[in-house]
Amino acid sequence: MNLVLMGLPGAGKGTQAEKIVEKYGIPHISTGDMFRAAIKGETELGLKAKSFMDKGELVPDEVTIGIVRERLSKDDCEKGFLLDGFPRTVPQADALENILEELNKKINFVINIDVDQDILMERLTGRRICKDCGATYHLVFNPPAKEDKCDRCDGELYQRADDNEATVKTRLDVNIKQTKPLLDFYETKGYLRNIDGRQDIGKVFTDLDRLLGGLH
Ligand code: AP5
Ligand code: ZN
Repeated sequence: MNLVLMGLPGAGKGTQAEKIVEKYGIPHISTGDMFRAAIKGETELGLKAKSFMDKGELVPDEVTIGIVRERLSKDDCEKGFLLDGFPRTVPQADALENILEELNKKINFVINIDVDQDILMERLTGRRICKDCGATYHLVFNPPAKEDKCDRCDGELYQRADDNEATVKTRLDVNIKQTKPLLDFYETKGYLRNIDGRQDIGKVFTDLDRLLGGLH
């Protein structure tokens, strides 16, 4: 299955992606994770992305499209893929159409995790991530059993550099502006499916699983 996961920052894309890839065994392609890994590794890509991410702005299309093209061409995408956080602009969506045509692939669904904007600040500022396995927690909505330690691997939890109030505000403003034309683009193509992201984490996954089960 070839999927695109959309949703505003904090909608729950990463949280649900973890569950989808575990159950359906397709690679998780998150442009945000790829940029963060590049920043950590101090690569050229990381240097290009960092200043934009620190401000909460989008990394330029040509950089982002390049890394997705390369990633989708890898062998493990033969069995399908889950794109998380890409595309985020209409030029990125156009480029994705071209890339998939070249690779002779088609999108099954573009899933939009739909949420009310006013809950996102709390979700993002309370998020904590495991530094070893990448599992995502929330201090209130999905707390770890031991404070500051991962349930899965006992790794330390940290807060993402862009999860402070000022940067979250810019991220929300930027993404709200970009989202509507993209949703219209995919609605017209008939790919779009909306999932109610205001429910608790388990219920959101039940809805997603029901949708994806239909593809088997
Ligand atoms: P990226 O890493 O993609 O961040 P984002 O879009 O801002 O999304 P998040 O990862 O913050 O949120 P999420 O929806 O995954 O939420 P999560 O599941 O963690 O991008 C970061 C930056 O990279 C961008 O700002 C940009 O600079 C750059 N970038 C990336 N892609 C790009 C692109 N295509 N083009 C240009 N630039 C790009 O959940 C959040 C919290 O809420 C967690 O604590 C979680 O436990 C909790 N939670 C989740 N679901 C629920 C629920 N149902 N109920 C209660 N709590 C919940
Ligand atoms: Zn962990």
